[in-house]
Amino acid sequence: VGPDVVDIAKLYNQANVFTYDPGFMSTASCESKITYIDGDAGILQYRGYPIEQLADHGDFLETCYLLLYGELPTATQKSDFDYRVSRHTMVHEQMSRFFSGFRRDAHPMAIMCGTVGAMAAFYPDSADISDPHQRMIASMRMIAKMPTIAAMAYKYSVGQPFVFPKNDLDYASNFLRMSYAVPCEEYRVNPIISRALDKIFILHADHEQNASTSTVRLAGSSGANPFACIAAGIACLWGPAHGGANEAALAMLAEIGTVDKIPEFVSRVKDKHEHTRLMGFGHRVYKNYDPRAKIMQKTCHEVLSELGIKDDPLLDVAMELERIALSDDYFIERKLYPNVDFYSGITLKAMGFPVSMFTVLFAVARTVGWIAQWKEMIEDPSSKIGRPRQLFTGSPRREYTPIGKR
Ligand code: ACO
Repeated sequence: VGPDVVDIAKLYNQANVFTYDPGFMSTASCESKITYIDGDAGILQYRGYPIEQLADHGDFLETCYLLLYGELPTATQKSDFDYRVSRHTMVHEQMSRFFSGFRRDAHPMAIMCGTVGAMAAFYPDSADISDPHQRMIASMRMIAKMPTIAAMAYKYSVGQPFVFPKNDLDYASNFLRMSYAVPCEEYRVNPIISRALDKIFILHADHEQNASTSTVRLAGSSGANPFACIAAGIACLWGPAHGGANEAALAMLAEIGTVDKIPEFVSRVKDKHEHTRLMGFGHRVYKNYDPRAKIMQKTCHEVLSELGIKDDPLLDVAMELERIALSDDYFIERKLYPNVDFYSGITLKAMGFPVSMFTVLFAVARTVGWIAQWKEMIEDPSSKIGRPRQLFTGSPRREYTPIGKR
C-alpha cells in the first residue's frame, strides 16, 4: 500500500487537508527497510533478523554492518569493516582540548552534544552529503569516534588522563579499556563484561522511528551535515522519557530503597495527582514485553554473577517491582511492561559506570541506527524536507494597538 498512501498524502496536500496527530501516535513519517517492530507480539528485527539471534550469536560491528548495508557480512567483509572502523577511532588533538573548556561536573551528554556537533568543523569534507563516499566516511567516523568521545567525557569527569584507543581490541573491549585503564597499571578486559556490553550495544542499535531517530531524520531532511544531525539525535535522546530512562529507572529503584517500600511507591504511581511514573516501564509501541528487556534481564544476571555481586538491593527491588507490576490491574490494563531500560541501569552500574554515563552508552550504540536511518533517507530520491503542519489555536486577526493605548 506504500505508493497509494503517498498518493493519498499528495491529494490531501493539494486539497490543503491534513491530519492532526499530536505525538505521532498513528502517523508514519517515512518508509523504511531497516527495523521491524510488532509491538503487540513483542517482536524486534533488524533487517529481518530477530534481535534474540543477533544478541546471542553476533557482535556489535556485525550489527552495524547489517544496519548500514542491509545484509550480514561475509568473513572478509566483516574483517574489512572492523578494520575500517578501527582506522577512525582517534579524535583530532584539537578536539581533545575542547574537554578542558567544560566544567568537571558537566553532564557527559552535554559534552557529547557539543563535541559531536563540532565534528563538522573538523571534517568539513564529510559535510558533502551528495557524495556517497563522503557519506560512508562520515558514518565510519561517527561509529568509530563515539566510544572515544564518550570515554574521554568519562575520564574528564573523574579527573584522569585520556586513554588512547587500542585498535586490536573489539569495539566494546576498546571502550572499556578507554574508560577504565589508568597509567602505570595493566588493564585486562574481562571477556564476560565486554560481551555483555557488546550485547547492550546490539540491543540499543536501532529502534525504527523513535523520538531521537525522527529528530535525526527531520534535521537531515533539510540537508544538514551528518554530524549536526547526530548531535540533534543525542540532544533528543537525553530526555527522561527516552534514553534518559535508564538513569531515571535506577534513581527510582534507589528512591524505593527496599522491597517493603514497593507497595507504597506503586500506590503513588497509580494516584493521578502524584504524577509519578514507573521508570523503565511502558513503551509507545510495545504493548507486550519488550523483547530487549528479556535479553537485558538475563545479561544483568550474568554480569552480577561474574562480578560476584550476590545481594544487590537494587536488583531485589527491581525483581519484586516487576513481579508486583505484572500482576497489578493498573499496569495490565494499560499494557505496561518493563522496557529495555529497566535492567540496563543495574547492569551498567555493576560494570562501574556512573549514572550520568548511562544515556551516553545508549548514544554510542544508537549512533549506527541514526546513521543508517539518515543514509536511507538521503539515498531515497523521493524524500522531502520534513515540515509538519499545525492546528492553529491562537487569536484570529486583530488590529495593532499603539503602545500608549494598551
Ligand atoms: N508508569 C505508570 N503509568 C504509566 C507509565 C509508567 N511508566 N507509562 C504510561 N503510563 C500510563 C499513563 O499514565 C496513561 O494512563 P491513563 O490512560 O490512565 O492516563 C497510560 O499509561 C498511557 O500513557 P501514555 O503517556 O499515553 O503512553 P505513551 O505511549 O505516550 O508513553 C512512554 C510511552 C513515554 C515510554 C511512557 O510509558 C513512560 O513515560 N515510561 C516511563 C519512561 C521510560 O521508561 N521511557 C523509556 C522508553 S524506552 C526507550 O526510550 C528506549
